Amino acid sequence: MKFACFFGCCLAAACSVSASGEDKPKLPDGPGKETMQRICSSCHGPEIVLGKRLTRDGWSQVVTNMIQRGAQGTDDEFADIVDYLTNTVSAEAVKINVNKATAKELQTGLEISDKDADAILHYREANGDFKSIDDLKKVPGIDAAKIDAKKSKLVF
Ligand code: HEC
Repeated sequence: MKFACFFGCCLAAACSVSASGEDKPKLPDGPGKETMQRICSSCHGPEIVLGKRLTRDGWSQVVTNMIQRGAQGTDDEFADIVDYLTNTVSAEAVKINVNKATAKELQTGLEISDKDADAILHYREANGDFKSIDDLKKVPGIDAAKIDAKKSKLVF
């Protein structure tokens, strides 16, 4: 099966980014996380859901699809999983990690100009990771009001 060696392969190819010191993608905490990890990890890593920003209907379809593929659980457990995916994973997917984002991601996510996005990248390269929103506002020329407006989406 395609995903049979998800964890094994991870050591070799898929996670080469983590070898360069990058964090492994992590499931965000929230109600239903344990249930999802337990039920959804037997065929592929649970991280497969990360970065997807589906609606409740979209996630329900994914879960129905997985049940057809053989996922085992009770109706309550699957309902918890859909809740977790909708309320936590989708919410997390809109967040922007300002220390990892590309210029393009910063630009679209923060709705700033490409010039401002470049300024953030250069500042990051020169000064290291941002620790807080206050650090981000120190970037020369940056519009602090725009940054404040996106506060809840920022991850450091
Ligand atoms: C019985 C094995 C199995 C279990 C258990 C399982 N999956 Fe899957 N999953 C698969 C297979 C096989 C694929 C690849 C499907 C494909 O390529 O279309 C997949 C693919 C996926 C994808 C990627 C689909 C896409 O189009 O990008 C997501 C998301 C996913 N699974 C979520 C889940 C969730 C959530 C659970 C727990 C409810 C789960 N899986 C449990 C077998 C499983």
